[in-house]
Amino acid sequence: MSFTIAVAGKGGSGKTSISALIIRYLIKNNRHPVLAVDADPNANLGESLGLKIHETVGLMLDRFQKEKIDIPSGMTKEAYLEYRLNTILLETRDFELLTMGRGEGQDCYCYPNTILRKFIDRLSDSYVFVIMDNEAGMEHLSRGTTQDIDELLIVSNHSVKGIRTISRIQELVKELKLRVKNESIVINMVSDQLDPFIVSELAALKLTPDAIIPQDDLILQADLKQQSLVELPDNSAAVKAIDRLMTKILSHKKS
Ligand SMILES: Nc1ncnc2c1ncn2[C@@H]1O[C@H](COP(=O)(O)OP(=O)(O)OP(=O)(O)O)[C@@H](O)[C@H]1O
Ligand SMILES: [Mg+2]
Repeated sequence: MSFTIAVAGKGGSGKTSISALIIRYLIKNNRHPVLAVDADPNANLGESLGLKIHETVGLMLDRFQKEKIDIPSGMTKEAYLEYRLNTILLETRDFELLTMGRGEGQDCYCYPNTILRKFIDRLSDSYVFVIMDNEAGMEHLSRGTTQDIDELLIVSNHSVKGIRTISRIQELVKELKLRVKNESIVINMVSDQLDPFIVSELAALKLTPDAIIPQDDLILQADLKQQSLVELPDNSAAVKAIDRLMTKILSHKKS
């Protein structure tokens, strides 16, 4: 059974960077195999991990729907789709990455989605950890392509709007009846300490942060130079904060 960590939150709050730093932690601590899933249609987890992505599940399904692909004889449509999904899985020395991406059409992907869900569920069983970077709106969660979540990280930047979004995501999780075992609140890009306005907004919404990630220039530098966040040094302030958060999360996990 794999342990699934999903990262959600307001647009630009740092979901992708945090997902990449979690993957960094797992690699550095030999907690593999790791499957990274970029579930944001505007995919960029690959870039944060120093990879170039050419093929996505969305593009492949699009082609599958539009073009009449000749399925090799003796192969069912389902087996063929699974074979194609396997080819999208990007393997690196330390982890594997599945990029969902977005199809161009508005067509209903109900059939491929069912297969996709089965594929991800089965795939997940081969990994110790599955890290899922989500889109800001969490729409795909409601589309049911996501399996059970062991740890949902709800990320906010150091803003009142971000903090309010945490509550909305928590409501959405309840409305969608997502099976989430544990939720952690993460406040990212904090320059010094939490501003009193943020503290009072958190109190008003009865929210308690589980982690505070400092504003870290090394993340911005890595972004500018298009370097992998896995390569950040151990003394980066954000790395240290994520390492502490992961130690906390994994202390709940039965090994
Ligand atoms: N702790 C941090 N310190 C400094 N910069 C950060 C930090 N976390 C994220 N950033 C920067 O903030 C920007 C947004 O981060 P990121 O792309 O991870 O957010 P996101 O929530 O995934 O965004 P989106 O909603 O667009 O997917 C990026 O330029 C990233 O380099
Ligand atoms: Mg992102």
